[in-house]
Amino acid sequence: MSGVHASFPVTHNTNSQLLSVDWDNLPFGKIFADHMFVMEYANGAWQQGEILPFGPIDMHPAMSAIHYGQSIFEGMKAYRNKDNEVVLFRPELNARRFAESAARMCMPEIPEELFLQAVKQLVATDANWVTNKPGYALYIRPFMFATDEFVGIKPSDNYKFVIINSPVGAYYAEPVRVKIEEHYTRAAEGGVGRAKAAGNYGASLYPAKLAQQQGFHQLVWTDAKTHTFIEESGTMNIVFVMDNKIITPTEDADTILRGTTKKTVLELARHWGIPVEERKVTVAEIIEAAKSGKLQEAFGAGTAATIAPIALIGYRDEKIMLPALETREISLRIKAHLDGVKSGEIADTMHWVQKVC
Ligand code: COI
Repeated sequence: MSGVHASFPVTHNTNSQLLSVDWDNLPFGKIFADHMFVMEYANGAWQQGEILPFGPIDMHPAMSAIHYGQSIFEGMKAYRNKDNEVVLFRPELNARRFAESAARMCMPEIPEELFLQAVKQLVATDANWVTNKPGYALYIRPFMFATDEFVGIKPSDNYKFVIINSPVGAYYAEPVRVKIEEHYTRAAEGGVGRAKAAGNYGASLYPAKLAQQQGFHQLVWTDAKTHTFIEESGTMNIVFVMDNKIITPTEDADTILRGTTKKTVLELARHWGIPVEERKVTVAEIIEAAKSGKLQEAFGAGTAATIAPIALIGYRDEKIMLPALETREISLRIKAHLDGVKSGEIADTMHWVQKVC
């Protein structure tokens, strides 16, 4: 699908903040574009959505999302390519994952076409916020939360779906230092780890803060039962390169978020003939490989973080430096390819890019 069908009414923002943006000092996620999309769920159905000037949302003090956490979100990006077109990268995967997160959190699903249409029309409305500055994008944050005004515990009958846009540069300003977490848990089997549920991120803040106090940026989460298998890292999926093979934790368990960037990395690697192993990855093998120099590369893969090289792994009392960034042939090649496809410099032979306007 491509192009926009302008089916949502738009109230234009007459007080654009675009000219006040300092593109050379852009903090991640703190500046917002001029418009937002809002759609309510009531009486068992999604109501007419609309595009409004960006601004505060009214909230009842008993609104159930803030009491019981029925709240999910997505992260996507829009890019401006060399032909001055605004494009999205595999947005259908976000639409599908949003529907899966909704189902897991007992929230109403949004039909994927409706989700995509809302994203596209909003991005088209804020198109002048999409820069072609290399490394920058318009971060798109669709989210849904429960709006019943009721402090009893039950699935809400009412919801709000909102999309906001934020111009961003890099999420991590430098290669990341991660610590393997062996006590706290992000997700347990049977839990909500696969869903992009707000509470997953809230629960990660305290252990992440402890690691940050020790000089790390993020944690590497391990399985809840034994803490011997690697799952994901902070806000990203995690990928390793050993013996010129890509190795990454399998997503069979319902504890790992199914990331678009990681899926793309694996598809690209397979397409290039690089062996890929999606399997259980033990902490022990990664530490052993890192110490012996067998671990060639480690990186996080995520929409916000893109391909984020891991510089150092902390394990118990040890800090193990990973190979110099310039030696990391596979992740550098993948990143260059993805940047090229998004900017239009490299042909989109895998049909990942959808044009917005
Ligand atoms: C994303 O990569 O889009 C995420 O959702 C991470 C976010 C918590 C910044």
